[in-house]
Amino acid sequence: MLIDERTGEGALFCLGLFRGDAGSRCFDACLHRDAPRMQPKAPCCFAVFIFKGVSLVPKTLVKKHTEGKPRAKKHGLTEAQIAVHWKEEAYIRPPARFIAQANLNDNYALERFSEKHFPECFREYAELLHWDQYWHTTLDTEHPPFWKWFVGGRLNVAYNCVDRHLAKYKNKAALIFVPEPEEENHIVITYQELYRRVNEVAAVLQGFAGLQKGDRVTIHMPMIPELPITMLACARLGIIHSVVFGGFSGEACGLRAADSGSRVLIYVDGYHRNGRWVDHKLSADIAVETAKKEGQVIDKVLVWKRYHHKYTSDAPMIMERDFFIDDILKDYRNAVVPPVSMESEDPLFLMYTSGTTGKPKGCQHRTGGYLAYVTGTAKYYQDIHPEDVYWCLADIGWITGHSYIVYGPLALAATSVIYEGVPQFPDAGRPWRIAERLDVNIFHTSPTAIRMLRKAGAEEPKKHNYRFKHMTTVGEPIEPEVWRWYHEVVGKGEAVIVDTWWQTETGGFLCTTKPALDPMKPGSAGPACLGIYPVIWDEEGKEVASSDHAAGNICIRNPWPGIMQTIWGDPHRFVNQYYKKYNKNAQSKDWRDWPYYAADAAVFPPDGYYRILGRVDDVINVAGHRLGTKELESACLTVPEVAEAAVVPIVDEVKGRIPEIYISLKPGVLPKKQIVEKVIAAIETMIGKIARPKRIHIVPDMPKTRSGKIMRRVLAAISNQMDTGDITTLANPDIVEQVRQLVQGREIMPLNEGPEDIKLFGDER
Ligand code: WTA
Repeated sequence: MLIDERTGEGALFCLGLFRGDAGSRCFDACLHRDAPRMQPKAPCCFAVFIFKGVSLVPKTLVKKHTEGKPRAKKHGLTEAQIAVHWKEEAYIRPPARFIAQANLNDNYALERFSEKHFPECFREYAELLHWDQYWHTTLDTEHPPFWKWFVGGRLNVAYNCVDRHLAKYKNKAALIFVPEPEEENHIVITYQELYRRVNEVAAVLQGFAGLQKGDRVTIHMPMIPELPITMLACARLGIIHSVVFGGFSGEACGLRAADSGSRVLIYVDGYHRNGRWVDHKLSADIAVETAKKEGQVIDKVLVWKRYHHKYTSDAPMIMERDFFIDDILKDYRNAVVPPVSMESEDPLFLMYTSGTTGKPKGCQHRTGGYLAYVTGTAKYYQDIHPEDVYWCLADIGWITGHSYIVYGPLALAATSVIYEGVPQFPDAGRPWRIAERLDVNIFHTSPTAIRMLRKAGAEEPKKHNYRFKHMTTVGEPIEPEVWRWYHEVVGKGEAVIVDTWWQTETGGFLCTTKPALDPMKPGSAGPACLGIYPVIWDEEGKEVASSDHAAGNICIRNPWPGIMQTIWGDPHRFVNQYYKKYNKNAQSKDWRDWPYYAADAAVFPPDGYYRILGRVDDVINVAGHRLGTKELESACLTVPEVAEAAVVPIVDEVKGRIPEIYISLKPGVLPKKQIVEKVIAAIETMIGKIARPKRIHIVPDMPKTRSGKIMRRVLAAISNQMDTGDITTLANPDIVEQVRQLVQGREIMPLNEGPEDIKLFGDER
C-alpha cells in the first residue's frame, strides 16, 4: 500500500498485510507457542500502524511485504481484503478457578484423540453412556459415506437421559421451565417427575396413538417442557421425532410432516412470545391440509394445553382427529413403559434444514453415535457437571436445542433451564434476573441475542448478582467487539467463553477452544474439537495452508459419531451435497477419501484458530437461523404477478444478516404496493415470520449472465453498498446502474468494503 520501501513511511496501515513468511514465523512464535503462557489480555502480536514519517514495524517486515503484491486468492478474495476484516485479537486465558474444576483439564486429550488413535478415541465419549449391549465395531466404513458407529451396541436414549440418573439424582431438578410472563412462577421438574411424565406420554403414544419403533412423528411446539418430554417419550419407544421450530408456519410444518411420512402431529394450543399470545393450534389445521396436498394423511393431532385447566386457541378441535393429551393422560397415570433397546445405528430424530434447493432436507441422526458425541462434547466443552445450572437460550426446535438443551445436558444429569420467551421481554434485564434467581452458572446463546441485549441494556448485567463460570456462543460469527462485551459485562470478566462452530448436519461441535486448556481469541471459533481433523481446500481441492492467509472451503477429513446418517429419503442428495465435491475415489472404502464438505468459508491462521467466515452456498444465516434463498424465492414466485425473484443477504447490526428481495413483474403488470404486501404474506405463510425480508425491490429486470442466470452477487453488492465487481460479462450490464439507483438513490455513495460471506454470495461453485 502507501509505503515507501526504503523508509517504511506511509499512511495508516493494517496488520494483516504484513503477514508474509516472516510475519508467519513471528505469528507462530508469538501466538502459538507462547500464547498459553501470556498474561491475561496481553496483546499477542505486533500492533502495526505506520503513520507518516514514523515506522513502528521492523523494517524487515515492511520489506517482506513490499516484495510482492497481495495475490488474488480463492473466491476472488485477496490477502489484503481478508486482512482488512481480520484484525488480530489479544488472547484471553481461562481463569485458574475455572481450570481447577474443569471436566477437561488434562493435556493428554489431544494425544488420545489424535489421528493415530482414530476411530477408537471416540470410545471415550461412548463410555459416558449406559449400553444395554456393548458394541463390537467402533466405526464401520463398509458403505462410504454412510458410516456406522458403535456397531453391535444397543442402548436407549431416554434411559440414558432420565432413568439412569434416578438412583443418585431423583430429586434433583432436570428441567426448570421459566414462563415468559414474569408474574408466573417457574416450574421445576425433577428427574423423578421427568421419569414419570416421559413414561406416561410414551404410554399415550404407544397405547392411544398406536405408534411404535421406526414411526415418525412431527412435533410443532415452542419452548415449553412438554416439548422435551414428548421428544424423550419418542426416544423411549424408538419413534423418530421431527421437531419443527415453533416459529415456522403451519405450511412449513405440513411440508416437513409429509416428507417424513408422519401420520401424527403434536401441537400445543398456544404460548407467550414477546408479550403476545400466539394462537399456535391455528397452524395445525394448515399443516394437516398441506401434508394432505403432498399425499400424507395425518390421522391424529395430539394437542397439549399451555395451561392444563383451559384451552386457549380459537381453532376448534376437529372430532376424531384432534385430541387433548392432558385428557388422554388421565388413562395412563403412573404407566411405566420399558425403554426399547435400540440398535446404535437406529435413527433417533430428523431435523429439517435449508440447503441449496427449495426443498428442506431432513437430516437423519443416529442413536448411539449422536448421543455419545453430544454427551462428550457437552461434558468437555460446556463443562457441564450434575451440580451445574445450565441455561441455553436457543430454541429446542433447532439443532442447538436438541443437542445442548435436551440430549447432551440431560445425559450428564444436568439441570437444564427452558425459557419460553424472548430474552429482552419485558426488558433487557430479564435474562440476568432469571440467571440470578436460578443461580445459573453456565450460559449459552447466540451472537444475535448478545447484540440485542447489549443494544437494549449494555449496563444491565452489572445490576444483577449472578456468576457464570462458562458461556457459549453459537450460530454465526461473532464480532470481537460483541465478544468482549459478552466477556467483560455478561461474564463479568470471570467466565470462560467457547465460540462453537458446527451445523445441523454435524450433530455437535466441530471447532471451539477447550475451555480450560486453550486461550480464547475473540472472533475466532478456535481449534478443531478432539477427534475432528479439518482442512481448508480451494475450489480445485488444493490445500489452503495457513501461510497462504486466504479463505477456502472448510472440510472435515474424517467421520465422527455426531455426523448425520443421511438425508431422510434422499441418500443421493446426501452424497452429492456433502461428499461429492472432494471425493477422490467413489469406490474407496477408506474414510480418508471421503471428506465432509461443510459449505462454510474459513481461514486457518498459523495459530490454529479457525475463523469461520460464513456460508458459501445459497443459505442466509438470519439471527443464527438458516434460511434457504431458494425457499424464499419459491415463496415469492407463488404470487401471480411475480415473474422472477432473487434473494440476497443484507448486513444487519443485530441479526447478522437479513434477506432482501428483488422481484421483477410479469409483462404488463404495474408495480404496486399490494404486490409487495402479497410477497410478504406469501413468505410468512409458507415459511414463517423469521423469514420476513428487510426490503422488497421491484426492478425492471435482473442482472443476468448471457445464459440467463440471475447474478445474485451483483444484487447483494448493491444491497450492501459494495463494489459490484466486473459486470462486463453480463447480458444486460445497463440494468445494474438502474437497479443501483432504485435501491441507493441517484447519488453515488461511498462503497463499503463488506464482509466476506457477502462478497462470496452467489458465486458459482
Ligand atoms: C454458522 C447451528 C461462525 C455456519 C449450530 C454454519 C457459525 C451454520 C458458528 C450452521 C460459529 C454456526 N461461528 N459461524 N461459531 N456456528 N455457524 O445448521 O455458517 O443452524 O454453517 O447449526 O451456522 O447453522 P445450523
